[in-house]
Amino acid sequence: MEKGGSDFMKSVFVYYSLTGNGDYVASLLKDQGIDIIKLETKRPFPKAIALQMIAGGGEALFHKKPKLKIANFDLSSYDEVILGTPIWNGRTAPAMNTFLKENPLTGKAIVLVSYSGSGNAHKCEESLSKRFPLKASVALKAPLTNQAEAIASLKKAQLLK
Ligand SMILES: Cc1cc2nc3c(=O)[nH]c(=O)nc-3n(C[C@H](O)[C@H](O)[C@H](O)COP(=O)(O)O)c2cc1C
Repeated sequence: MEKGGSDFMKSVFVYYSLTGNGDYVASLLKDQGIDIIKLETKRPFPKAIALQMIAGGGEALFHKKPKLKIANFDLSSYDEVILGTPIWNGRTAPAMNTFLKENPLTGKAIVLVSYSGSGNAHKCEESLSKRFPLKASVALKAPLTNQAEAIASLKKAQLLK
């Protein structure tokens, strides 16, 4: 696919993160001058990992759209929207489903940055690309743990210089 962010495009990274991997990616993109929007659900998520897997896995499977603290954003000044989502049960995180329902992205260049335990984002990519063309997709495997690998992948997609 084509490259991600470029010098003349104004980009925003809209992302969700439960356990910090997305926050790490956001910190890298922020250093490039990319604006950052972090999605936060109104209802806090369980702290116990087993409960997270059950609740989150189910929500992702059934394409739930949990209420967000802020759901609508003015994206009119951006040419490019970089979507950041953890992979939950092979799919986008539910908070991203809500964002995509509430915010039409017509006319924007859209880049997907996913992060997961396995690095496999095929189902998520396939489902998003049915809704809009993806300009680029970067699937990161546990970026907080594999920082050098994540940086190399983001550089390859030209999201980092
Ligand atoms: C509810 C839930 C479901 C998950 N499902 C998957 C999955 O299907 N495949 C995978 O590789 N990782 C899965 N993971 C792992 C996360 O995708 C991975 O830890 C990701 O980097 C988390 O991003 P974050 O730290 O920004 O929240 C899941 C994690 C949670 C909490």
